[in-house]
This record gives sequence, structure tokens and C-alpha cells, in this order.
Amino acid sequence: CGIVGYIGQQDVKDILLNGLEKLEYRGYDSAGIAVVNEAGVHIFKDKGRIAHLRTVVDETVLSTVGIGHTRWATHGAPNQRNSHPHQSSTGRFTIVHNGVIENELELRQEFLPNYNFISDTDTEVIAALIEHFVLEKEDVELAIRHVMSLLHGSYALGVIDANNPEVLYAAKNKSPMLIGLGEGFNMIGSDAMAMLQCTNQFVEIEDEEFIKLTREGVTIYNLLGVTVKRDPFTAELDASDIEKGTYPHYMLKEIDEQPYVIRRIVEQYFEDGDIKIDQEIVKAVKEADRLYIIAAGTSMHAGFVGKQMFEQLAGIPTEVHISSEFVYNTPVISKKPLFIFISQSGETADSRAVLVKIKQLGYPSLTITNVPGSTLSREADHTLLLYAGPEIAVASTKAYTAQVAVQAVLAAKVAGKTDLDLSRELAIVANVMESITDHKEQYEAIAKDYLTQRNCFYIGRHVDYYVALEAALKLKEISYIQTEGFAAGELKHGTIALIEKGTPVIAIVSQESVNLNTRSNVKEVKARGANTVIISLRSLSSETDQIVIDDVHPLLTPLVTVVPTQLISYYAALQRGFDIDKPRNLAKSVTVE
Ligand code: G6P
Repeated sequence: CGIVGYIGQQDVKDILLNGLEKLEYRGYDSAGIAVVNEAGVHIFKDKGRIAHLRTVVDETVLSTVGIGHTRWATHGAPNQRNSHPHQSSTGRFTIVHNGVIENELELRQEFLPNYNFISDTDTEVIAALIEHFVLEKEDVELAIRHVMSLLHGSYALGVIDANNPEVLYAAKNKSPMLIGLGEGFNMIGSDAMAMLQCTNQFVEIEDEEFIKLTREGVTIYNLLGVTVKRDPFTAELDASDIEKGTYPHYMLKEIDEQPYVIRRIVEQYFEDGDIKIDQEIVKAVKEADRLYIIAAGTSMHAGFVGKQMFEQLAGIPTEVHISSEFVYNTPVISKKPLFIFISQSGETADSRAVLVKIKQLGYPSLTITNVPGSTLSREADHTLLLYAGPEIAVASTKAYTAQVAVQAVLAAKVAGKTDLDLSRELAIVANVMESITDHKEQYEAIAKDYLTQRNCFYIGRHVDYYVALEAALKLKEISYIQTEGFAAGELKHGTIALIEKGTPVIAIVSQESVNLNTRSNVKEVKARGANTVIISLRSLSSETDQIVIDDVHPLLTPLVTVVPTQLISYYAALQRGFDIDKPRNLAKSVTVE
């Protein structure tokens, strides 16, 4: 979910709605805003997207103070009743919340046994508790801080008190939130993009902090009520980076940006032919006897490719773990581990839970992320940035290739002198990517001619298997075609039973050592009726391969073989008329475990 809040001089409705639109990547099941004026608090909310919310908001209600929310449902179905904002029973407190309160049941039983809840959300419990403790403590700030001390779980909160509309309150624990500063106004938001329309001056908020915002100023308190001083920073984001320009979808724009991203990574990480990475980071990797890559979704797939690089280039044993598994089912850890968190957003709660745990155990950590100042970046010992620019489409594309490239840079730095001229090889990668994105019609045709059924398989061996996993995720998440990525040799051990006449099987062939083996697997499925497509590197290609890509260094092939699969997914979703940038049920940044 995403939240935004504003107290200032201008009418707040559009500020909130525009901000929420930028936060839709965090969820888009339902949305709402609350604004306050002399007549009281007005709430507009409904199931559906921000574009729909705009039609629900009463244009004639004017106000300069408000809060807004876009939701990715956790507690309760996505409907009008469960949409935020939520109110306490008398209507005095109105709140928006991103996060999950783990002890809401206990809190309901202990403090609110007879309370009449309207929604199924844990958020309404917070509103009710604030009201409950205001009666007891007779002070709103004390009451909110007391409620914070009772909450177990994650929250970024915006609170309006109908009795005092000259103040906006906010509180944070685990869920991300920033303060935005302006002349005569102040804001809160789940990220900087939500506030960039008004300001580029931001202040970070740490866990368990409470914030009081007025038009003139912002005060941060810790749980004990002691004021905390923190300097603002200027965001380097450019508002135009987050517009899609002439592109029909962010995803297509972001696919096309990949060659530039690779060139930018070269610019950022190379100087006079040498790789420049903070010595402390290089030391941390060199000293490790084993690397543990922790990530979710696409970032985990990038981690698999990274594993290959750390092992082959730098000779360091590397394991890749699903963050949500690692935290509860922790494997035996080596004597000198280094934990590498890969996360586009730097906010994924599953990954953060692991970071918290390994910090308690005293292990060192490095975050590889696209978002400077994100939670995983702030909390890890070290950070390497992706320099991919904001990625807006829910389906990740340029962040994946950037993650692979940055891991290559790190592995090469740690490896020291080798035959690999990485900056040159990455420059070749960027050119090859361009030659792929220049021929989109080819991928559009593959999507149309081959993806005719409700399932599909991607197969590959070696590093192509990892790309097959990512290709399958991309296709299923936006086109809803049930797709599996498979190690080509493993298919015959069971899953081949699913191959029928016309089943699409797309094979990736980029490694000489397994070229013939993968091609044998293609023949096996073809003999059983599959409609096969082969994506190969030119030096390994055969005449009948449908997609042939110019050669790149064997370690870097995932950077180019993935691009056709991204485009195939894009066109498959487009041909089906689905919402490409905002596929159903998903959110780009999942800040709950
Ligand atoms: C969500 C997104 C995925 C993403 C994953 C990890 O599930 O829908 O596209 O790969 O989170 O996100 P992160 O920001 O940690 O890379």
C-alpha cells in the first residue's frame, strides 16, 4: 500500500490524487482520500484505481489538509468498506495505514472488547485505539505514541484529528515513509515520487518515530516524546523520469531503456579502465568464505545469475535464498558469511526481515538496490546502486538487467586482474540489447503465433535455466498464461507429461557447453507435439532458430537473452488486452511479509 498526506495552502484533493497515482505501484485494489475543512472531515474512497477515485471525489469540497491511500489488500477483501481512510467510531480520528499489525486480535480483545468495527482491517483498530487512549490521556500526541508502543508489526500512518485540523500526525515503523518539506506546506509520503510534484526536499523518518506536521514546520519525536533533529536532503529524482512520455506503457519504455542503463552502470562504476567500488565493500566480499544472496521475485532470479558470476569470476561459494523462506527456515551459515540483499525497491518486507535477523546475529551485509535511501540500503552495512532510474511498471525489466550487471561489476572487481575486459563487454551488451529492441515486430509475432494456449514453458540449461525462470515469471505475471521455467534436462522427469499438441516451449541457448543437450530436449518436446521456439546466440544458432541474438561474453548472456522474453511477455499481455503496467493482484513493492 502507499500513503500520502499534505497540510498547506493549496486545495489538497489533486495533490493527494496525483501523489497516489505515483504510488499505485505499491498496490491498486482500492483507494481513498480524507480531507478536512470547517464543515468537518470528508472521505472519498472506493474499490478500484486512482483514476476511478477521481470520479468519486466531490470537486466542490475545498480543503488544504488531507491524507490518501492506495491499497494492496492484506486484511479484508478489496472493497469500499475496507478501503482507507478509516475512522474511529465518533469520527474524530481519520487514518491511513501501510503495513500489518500482527497483534490486532489481542489489542481488540484487551482494549476494545465491545467496539463496533465497520471494516475487517487492522487499520480500524489503530483508529479505535487512538480514540480510546485520547479519552484516558487527554492528549492526542501522548495517545498516539502510546498506541505506537502497543502495536506489533509494521506501519506508516497518517492521522487527522477533526478537533484540530491545523495539524497532521504521522508515525512509522518498518513501513517506508518520508517527510516532504515546502514553503508554507509540509507532506508525508511512502516515497519521494509521491511528493515530487510539490517538493524535492525530504527528511527521512526512522522506525518508531512520531511526526507532527503543520503548515509552518515539522517536528519529529521518538517514542518517549523527545525531539529528534535530522537534516533534510535533496532528491536527485527528476519528475520527468517518472513520466512515460510517448510510450503506451512504462514497461515498454523500461525495456527500451536497458541499453542506456547498462551504459550508465559503466559510467558510474568504471574510471580509467578500472572498476571503482568502495574498498570496504570489496574487502567485505573478499573476506567472506561464502556469499548469501537474499531476494524475492525477479531480484532473486538476478541473484541466481549473480551466483554464477561470484563463483566463476571470483571463486567465492554463493547461495541464493528466497527471503521469505530464509527468515523462518534458516540454513546452516558458514563461518564468515556476507549477506547480499538484492532489491529493486529496497523495501521488500520479506527481505528486510532477513536483514533484521542477520544483523542480530552480527553478520555483515550489502544491499544492491535501485533506490538510494531505501530501508534495505539504510540498514545494511553497505550499498551498491543500480542507476536504472525509477522503475514504474510492476513487472521488473531494467532493474533485473541492472542487478545482473552490477553483480558482474562487483564480481569482476573482487576477482582482480582477469582476461575479462568488463567495460568493453558491457558496451557490447548495450549494443546487442539495442539491436533486439529495434526489432519489436519479431517478438510481437512470436507472442501471437506461439502463445495460443493457456500454458507455456521456458527451458534452458546452465545460466539459461535462470533466465528461463525469469522469463516465465514475466510472462505469467502480466499475460496470466501459466508458465513454468524449467531446467531443460529436468523436464523429462515428470513435467513433460504436460506437453500436448500445440503447447508452447521456448528454449534459450546461450552456452556452448549445453547447446546440443538443450536442443535434444527441444526435439523431445517437439516429438510430443510442442510448438517450439529457440532463442540462441549467433555463434550457436541453427538455421531454424526463430530468434538469433548477436554474441556477447558467455558470462553476460543473461543480459541479452532476457530481453526477447520481456518483449514476448509485453506483447502477449497487449494482445490479450490486459493492464500491462498494473497486472491484477500484484504490487511492485510488497511491504508486508
Ligand atoms: C514484488 C514485485 C516483483 C519483485 C519483487 C521483489 O513481488 O511484484 O516484481 O521482483 O516484489 O521486489 P524488490 O523491490 O525487492 O526487487
